[in-house]
Amino acid sequence: MDGELRCGGVRAADLAERFGTPLYVYDIRRIEDRIQAFQKAFAGIDHLLAYSVKANGNLSILRRLAALGCGADITSAGELYRARKAGIPAEHIVFAGVGKTEPEMVYALREGIYAFNVESAGELERLDAVASRLGLRARFAVRVNPDVLSPTPHEYTATGHAATKFGVPLEDAAELYRWAARRRNLEARGVDVHIGSQIVDPEPYLTALEAVLRLVSVLRTEGVPLSYLDLGGGYGISYDAGPELNVEALAQAVVPRVREAGLSLVVEPGRSVVGDAGILLTRVEYVKRAGKTFVIVDGGMSDLIRPSHYGGYHAVERVDTRIPRRTEAVDVVGPLCETGDFLARDRPLDVPEAGELLAVRTVGAYGFSMASNYNARRRPAECMVDGDRVTLVRRRETLDDLVRGEENLDGAGVSEAGEDR
Ligand code: LLP
Repeated sequence: MDGELRCGGVRAADLAERFGTPLYVYDIRRIEDRIQAFQKAFAGIDHLLAYSVKANGNLSILRRLAALGCGADITSAGELYRARKAGIPAEHIVFAGVGKTEPEMVYALREGIYAFNVESAGELERLDAVASRLGLRARFAVRVNPDVLSPTPHEYTATGHAATKFGVPLEDAAELYRWAARRRNLEARGVDVHIGSQIVDPEPYLTALEAVLRLVSVLRTEGVPLSYLDLGGGYGISYDAGPELNVEALAQAVVPRVREAGLSLVVEPGRSVVGDAGILLTRVEYVKRAGKTFVIVDGGMSDLIRPSHYGGYHAVERVDTRIPRRTEAVDVVGPLCETGDFLARDRPLDVPEAGELLAVRTVGAYGFSMASNYNARRRPAECMVDGDRVTLVRRRETLDDLVRGEENLDGAGVSEAGEDR
């Protein structure tokens, strides 16, 4: 508007000044609007909005989502810990993942989560053994793999076809329910499907839904009483002005079918809740002309890995456009010692000068949550904007954070999830 980027009601430049760069900035109102849109779209059915914590597990965001009545889709003990700490009730938590360990099962059973989304016969057997040992009943859904190939932008985010590690082949699922029906410590509660991520077409969801509903009716005739259907997540957003999934249209198709079947619904959106509410502010260190023009910034693949890992597109723009610059195709690259360390490649950009700020867009999902300490880089700070109120929601890591756990060791290793459960 006035040539200076704002986040909510706040000048991005002020945030960078106050908290340093690289800096993740989240607009919480946008996140809350997204949740309300989901709630409205699925209002016609008893439903649980199980936000997928892996997209962005920041405690302050989770707390706001908990206050709006969201549950959580988790994939590790760590995500369970985050969700519970943020006040998400255990009975609103579903646990996905192909490799759940025993300590993770113990932790989740003791907390009393809504359901385990079981991904193999071996896992169901282990769950039965752990629940028996604890004298608890494990509620579960089998995650079925409906073998639909959903068009996602990268092969790494397709999960619903036969050649991935996820889920149980549709034809094998009924047998797991039959086996579980004879086990006292297992309680089949629902059926689960998740076909991939960044899907913008409703069609593959509907194909998967029909396949899963056929399974539900077979199980019903055998006396397996299921009460819910979990449709997973993966609802695509727009990174480059392309289409996003029309959640309302999807809901209009899904809700009547699931109601007819007498089931309630779980949905597990991640990216579509937080994705477009986040930007990454990064400062230009150098502009280097070496055949190509490289804009070298202080944020890199350790802060945002999507461009190099998935070829993900993120719009990059200057924060302050009051001084015009010449447009060129540039590579926006980070300081890490990797050729794959880029945020944008061959991108037309008004070439900034050293010291200027850039904003990388649509990084609220799988941005910070995939950040690493590679090259012994300190993970960036995160802040949250609520209208014109600003809160630091994660401080920038320090040099001491980097070596924490490597000094003054008393020789005792700690087993996973074992230290506090
Ligand atoms: N439910 C399950 C079982 C999942 O595996 C996922 C994501 C979700 C829900 C949430 O999906 P979403 O609504 O966020 O698309 N790191 C990749 C995305 C990986 C998604 C993994 N599973 C990326 O940056 O594109």
